[in-house]
Amino acid sequence: MASRKFKVLALGDVIGSAGQRAVFAACAGLKRRHNADMVIVNGENAVEGFGIDEATAQRLFSAGADVITTGNHVWQQKSVMPYLDREDRILRPANYPGGNPGHGYCVLDVRGVSVAVLNLQGRVRMPSIDCPFRTAKDLLRKLKSKAKIFVLDFHAEATEEKEALAAYLDGEVALVFGTHTHVQTTDNRILRGGTAYLTDIGACGPHDSVIGFKSDVSVRRSLTQLPLKNEVSDTTARIHGLVLSLDPLSGKALEIERIQEDSLV
Ligand SMILES: [Fe+2]
Repeated sequence: MASRKFKVLALGDVIGSAGQRAVFAACAGLKRRHNADMVIVNGENAVEGFGIDEATAQRLFSAGADVITTGNHVWQQKSVMPYLDREDRILRPANYPGGNPGHGYCVLDVRGVSVAVLNLQGRVRMPSIDCPFRTAKDLLRKLKSKAKIFVLDFHAEATEEKEALAAYLDGEVALVFGTHTHVQTTDNRILRGGTAYLTDIGACGPHDSVIGFKSDVSVRRSLTQLPLKNEVSDTTARIHGLVLSLDPLSGKALEIERIQEDSLV
């Protein structure tokens, strides 16, 4: 393992059944094709657009996910709460108040390399939870001796907050990738200290939609300002994500590549 590159495949927010079908069908193939050592999937919109449940999480694990990250909608399916406590590999943002169900990081041994996956959530146009910057530093201090590679899903709305967190952690983590906006950005780059960054990796969900949901509902809500609930679009899904290559000895990024492809199911 020592001289070989280590590769991480990350897939964006799985939205509804179209997103689930797409990821169930494509995950193993993508992992093979990109020669990825591990797969991280954000599952926070998997159940009809809002949250995730145990059965869906288990199917994502069976499809090839090693770690499932989430975000603000993780609390939506009430039945998932005990599962969040029980299953180490499903995360909820670490900066929710202490005592909430679940945990915000895990450490895995992947082919002899210890990898810490962290999940944090932004506070700009999001719930006002604990500081993601300070929480990240605390976690890195705590996990420094336990992991060689650090990868972070920052579930956040604002580009500035996402870029600022990546700048703050530059050199300490291999990757900061954004989720939550559901639209992939094109700013994949490696920062000066060796941290790879992408503002948003995009979603795995219906493409003919407004961020994965039915366009007409979104248009009506915009026109009327009524609190109309989003409904997942029933069109074909597109898969978005990234592949990170890193040096397992230094824990620094070597290359970050975006993924975008139409689902065949
Ligand atoms: Fe979200």
